[in-house]
Amino acid sequence: MNVYDSGRMGDVLAHHGYGLTIDADGADMVILNTCHIREKAAEKLYSELGRFRILKDARKAAGKTTLIAVAGCVAQAEGAEIMRRAPFVDIVLGPQTYHRLPELIARAERSAGDGVLDIEFPPESKFDHLPDAAPTSSAAFLTIQEGCDKFCTFCVVPYTRGAEYSRPIADIVAEARLLCAAGVAEITLLGQNVNAYRDGDTGAGLGPLIRALDDIDGLARLRYMTSHPIDMDDDLIAAHGEVDALMPFLHLPVQSGSDAVLARMNRRHRIDDYRRTIDQLMAARNDLKLSSDFIVGFPGESDKDFEATLELAANIGFIQAYSFKYSPRPGTPAAAMVDQVPEALKSERLAALQDVLNASQREFNEGCDGRVMAVLFDRAGRKDGQLVGRSPYMQPVHVMAPESLMGQVTDVVITETNANSLGGELAATSTGTSQRKISA
Ligand code: 5AD
Ligand code: SF4
Repeated sequence: MNVYDSGRMGDVLAHHGYGLTIDADGADMVILNTCHIREKAAEKLYSELGRFRILKDARKAAGKTTLIAVAGCVAQAEGAEIMRRAPFVDIVLGPQTYHRLPELIARAERSAGDGVLDIEFPPESKFDHLPDAAPTSSAAFLTIQEGCDKFCTFCVVPYTRGAEYSRPIADIVAEARLLCAAGVAEITLLGQNVNAYRDGDTGAGLGPLIRALDDIDGLARLRYMTSHPIDMDDDLIAAHGEVDALMPFLHLPVQSGSDAVLARMNRRHRIDDYRRTIDQLMAARNDLKLSSDFIVGFPGESDKDFEATLELAANIGFIQAYSFKYSPRPGTPAAAMVDQVPEALKSERLAALQDVLNASQREFNEGCDGRVMAVLFDRAGRKDGQLVGRSPYMQPVHVMAPESLMGQVTDVVITETNANSLGGELAATSTGTSQRKISA
């Protein structure tokens, strides 16, 4: 979502004379869009700020000004503390106020270095005040929902992103139409709790929204993330069997394989529920594969609890996964739990889990050898004449292919498999056709 938000900040500023640059030395403004989900992500902010202070000073010596803004969830959570620790920061703004950037810049320019703070949850929706999105690739993100009311005991999201909010279905369809008219072929619908989506007027959930989007010309592929297992309703599961454009790959975080840990995490699902949901999804679409998120070393996690996680991971065979050591976040209930797991044990468990997860990913990738997969090319490769695209399962696929196939869904025979990517050749009959060429 931060990638999407950064893009939207770029869209806002494009209307005020700013353009994107990868050259920070030449930039009039630097925005650090931050993540607060784990401690490490937040720490990165202060080390990056040190780097940009040097840059700002060097530019000042050359008679140029540089505005430094901190956006995102660290800004939301730490607010004025950022200004205190890094007084050279000009603007601190939360994730709900980036439509106000032009006004904040004007205030910062007038404020003679005092710094401007805006971490409100404003009554107006930023989405109503943003210019049209300008896509930069044939695969685009589209935020449909923000915030979370679930309050998992480890998580800062309900505090930094606020309560669940869903955008109106008509606005989402209109944004998707614009994206597709501009050449986008794949849309990933985003939300902290994307399958809790509910249109305010009609009560339509994610299933009906997906069906509405399926009618849009040029939209070949749809994905959504991140889902909570308890919000996988029957209609959404059925959509996986009925909507061809919905890719057979779902990110469904389980966090732990132990019911006792899940209860202390306030996850509201048990392992049996999770397995049942997967069975239903597989019954709807038998080529569906899953990715997941795991936390190891949650307070009170015993050896037995952790073994249950290893067993679940091996048993389900996720084709991709993110796994993390539990990171206590200030103000969340789990941070105050008494039985914190020692850091060394967390590291040991993380390594053991990642061995299992990597083995599943490798096994799936190796099994792709010789298969024909539909690939959406969305960027140039490192080699001359090479394009890189994504398979239905999000694997990057490297292929020697003409530039004209950029933005097209094209059949590729997989000839090379690696831990994190695939290589292939254009299929002889490659016409950029069906998504369903892959057998389960
Ligand atoms: N510590 C470790 N991992 C966390 N996540 C969220 N909060 C924490 C935390 N405090 C992980 C969860 C979530 C993903 C986005 O980040 O696995 O699904
Ligand atoms: Fe955080 Fe997801 Fe739990 Fe919400 S459902 S509190 S975003 S982990």
